[in-house]
Parts: sequence; structure tokens; C-alpha cells
Amino acid sequence: MKPKIYITRKIPDSTLQKLKEHCHVTMWEEEETPVPRDVLKEQLKTVDGLYCLLTEQIDSELLKEAAQLKVISNMAVGFNNIDVEAASEKGIMVTNTPGVLTESTADLAFALLMATARRIPESSEFLRTGKWKAWAPMMLTGQDVFGATLGIVGMGRIGEGVARRAKGFDMEVLYHNRSRKPDVESQLGVTYVELEELLKQSDYVMILVPFSEETKNLISEKELSLMKETSILINVARGGIVNEHDLYHALKDQKIWAAGLDVFEQEPVSLNHPLLSLPNVVVLPHIGSASIKTRIKMSELAAENLLQALAGNTPQHLVNKELL
Ligand code: NAP
Ligand code: GLV
Repeated sequence: MKPKIYITRKIPDSTLQKLKEHCHVTMWEEEETPVPRDVLKEQLKTVDGLYCLLTEQIDSELLKEAAQLKVISNMAVGFNNIDVEAASEKGIMVTNTPGVLTESTADLAFALLMATARRIPESSEFLRTGKWKAWAPMMLTGQDVFGATLGIVGMGRIGEGVARRAKGFDMEVLYHNRSRKPDVESQLGVTYVELEELLKQSDYVMILVPFSEETKNLISEKELSLMKETSILINVARGGIVNEHDLYHALKDQKIWAAGLDVFEQEPVSLNHPLLSLPNVVVLPHIGSASIKTRIKMSELAAENLLQALAGNTPQHLVNKELL
């Protein structure tokens, strides 16, 4: 008998067809609205596999009655939306989609850095709203990227991708991780420093660590106060790693120069959020990996992980390896 699976949002058709060959599929058909929690809870009572997105909070309460659930396949590399410990306690495998989105996300991170440094959205708006009267020496002036110092907090797969791009712009690249990476240091010519030093020296600080209890509020008032007045903060990792209240005040009081944010504590971010009232903030709706090819690859990898687990094999990207 085919296993039963639930998919929490419309996914690319080719991936859906592949899953249908092997499973009885029920899918939340909406493209833009997440599945309501009560619907998901009901579905989880009877399915063998869950294919979900980072918009679903899969916690212990939701898993309580998931009697036959064997695998939760997240179509994302980050998995902080899933209570992995609760899943492990019930012997449920958790999988993610690392690697296939690295370069697209690094592209977006670098694009956001450049857009923020050179005030691209603000300049575009300036022209469209009829404010452009004449070329002027200091009109819409920004910060240089070429030759500047970039500090990467979280030199993982995406961090390395950003560092490679930065080298093309002749940037000095500093990084901070919990563990040093001597191979990456010699291959990419990047320098390990403690977080405080990175914040003091960098013209650009880019956050690329996963969200965890350890990284929650990693960048708060104290850390922001160490940055230069001309420096720019870019967060493409997760909301909640940067304290939004403290960031708002640092930007408003011009303690730092600007910020580029692809992620927020609450998503979608409220249009009344104080950060959105500031002209020196460039905001994006969590589109780091959003290229057509990459999103298709992510959907396929999430499907492969799910099918492997349901077939009784070890999926390629198992998060809770303690289950092995
Ligand atoms: P990764 O390869 O696991 O890299 C994460 C890096 O962060 C590792 O090098 C890790 O090194 C470091 N790290 C972890 N905890 C740390 C801590 N407490 N302090 C300092 N460094 C720490 O992950 P990735 O594939 O690059 O993805 C990174 C994150 O980006 C994901 O978890 C996800 O949240 C986010 N993301 C966002 C988008 C988007 O659309 N905006 C897209 C993809 C990914 P150590 O273990 O040595 O510390
Ligand atoms: C996106 O944010 C991801 O974690 O894949």
C-alpha cells in the first residue's frame, strides 16, 4: 500500500507528479496562504509523511497525535520552524534542503548589500515620484563596496558563497564562527576574528548563522554599538537573530548607516513595523533562494528526502542523525 503524505502548500507540478507515483497525496492547494494549524493538526493524525515549508511551526503539540508520522521534510535549509527534539523523541525523521540554494541565496545577499550601500530602491523611488530635478554632487550618495571590509557572521555554505563574490570586489573578508575553518581561510583568503572585532572593523556585517537559542538576539544594542557609524548590516539568515527594536534605534539615531533585511521576526512583516518607516532600510520578503531553478531543485530535494525516508532508507539530508 502506498504511504499517505500531506503537502502544506502548492509545489511545482513536476515534483507533485513524482510524489503521486509513490504516495497518496493530499495538498493544501493555496499558493500564498499557509495551511491553518487546525487543518494541519487533523491531517497529521493519519499521514506517514509531511512535506512542509518554513512557514509551518511544527511543535510538540502538533506532533502529539501524529501517530504514524515517519518523516517531516522541510523545503528549506533552515529548520528552526521544527521542534527537532520533539520529533526525535517520537522517532520522526526531519530533513532539509542544503546546498541546492547556496548560490542563489549568496547572489541575493550580495544584491541586497549593494542595493543598500548605493540606495538603489530609494533612488528608483526618487525618480518615479518626480523628485529628480537635476544631477547634483551629493545627491543620493551611498557607501563604496569595492575595496571595503565585509564581516560574515556564519561562514557556512552561503557565507563562503558570499565571500567568493566579495573577493571579486576586492573586499577584505573577516568571518566569525564557533569553529575556525583553516581550509576556507587559505582557499578564499578570509580572516577569522572574534565577533567584537568583526563588528568594529567591518564596513558591512552580514548575518548568515542559523537561528537557534544560541543565535537569538546575537546582534542587539551592545553589538550594534560596536559598529562604525558608516557601516551597514545585512540579514539574510533569520529574523530574531538581530534584535529589531535595537536595530530600529541604532538606525534612527544614526549609530549605523543602513540595513538590508530579507528576514523578520514575524513574517510577513507588518506594514506598521517601525523599521519600515526608515529610509535607510532596504526590505525584501524572504526571497533569498527565490530563483526559478533553485526553488524547483529545493522542491525536488525535499521530495527525494521524503521518499527515501518512507522507503525505509536514510534520507540524504537527515537533520536528526541521532535516529540512525
Ligand atoms: P551552514 O552551512 O550550516 O552555515 C551556518 C554557519 O553558521 C556555520 O558555518 C556555523 O559554523 C555557523 N554558526 C552556527 N551557529 C553559530 C553561532 N552560534 N555563532 C557563530 N557561528 C555560528 O548553513 P547555510 O546553508 O549557509 O545557511 C545558513 C542559514 O541561512 C540557514 O540556517 C537559514 O536560516 C538561512 N537561509 C536564509 C535564506 C533566505 O531565503 N533568506 C535562504 C537560505 C538560508 P559553526 O558551527 O562552526 O559555528
Ligand atoms: C530559507 O530561508 C531557507 O532556510 O531555505
